[in-house]
Amino acid sequence: MEKGLFITFEGCDGCGKTTQLELLAQYLQEHGYSVLTTREPGAKGLGTKLREILLNYDGEVSSNCESFLFLADRAQHIDTIVKPAINAGKIVLCDRHIDSTIAYQGYGRGIDHEHLAYLNDLATSGLKPDLTLLFDVDTETSMQRVGKNKDRMESAGIEFQEKVRRGYLELAKSEPNRIKVLDSRKSIEQLHQEVLTIFSCFSKTE
Ligand code: TYD
Repeated sequence: MEKGLFITFEGCDGCGKTTQLELLAQYLQEHGYSVLTTREPGAKGLGTKLREILLNYDGEVSSNCESFLFLADRAQHIDTIVKPAINAGKIVLCDRHIDSTIAYQGYGRGIDHEHLAYLNDLATSGLKPDLTLLFDVDTETSMQRVGKNKDRMESAGIEFQEKVRRGYLELAKSEPNRIKVLDSRKSIEQLHQEVLTIFSCFSKTE
């Protein structure tokens, strides 16, 4: 593969996307692909400092400030990690990316979606994921899976999480070619098989 692929994993907290990302990475590596797994916020370096603030800062954080911190992390992540890997022909599997900002800061916090889309574009210099896997789960199950040890974002409340979920589903409706929705109530193995099917259909059309 000359130029790599960029695949993002999205969904509410506790939806199981990280497990699926790791399973796909393992499968691809076993089949000879060169893979990079990464995440937002906070892949490494400066990003880990931003992650610490975003998830653990216990003072007041305005919604605009929160958005800019996620976007700052994204700009650094895309420029220093994602783009070099894609240009080196790797398959980049990324845990959360642009759709998280629209779902959480847009639908969740109520920030204008068009502004956020513009800022996402600026942060990524227009690079878009080739494929996005959205793991959909009802809010009750998702909060049960998160448990009691909640970070700053997970503590935003049920109503917030419901708005985020609705946001994701709206995004999937508006970009059905890029965003594929999977039902996270299925077993880990069932979901993994569905991920492989989506990946193989996608790579045939590339
Ligand atoms: P993380 O511990 O990585 O959660 P998860 O395992 O569910 O991915 O925390 C990331 C949190 O940050 C998560 O609650 C979603 C939130 N987030 C945003 O609100 N906006 C964003 O742009 C991104 C990337 C994440």
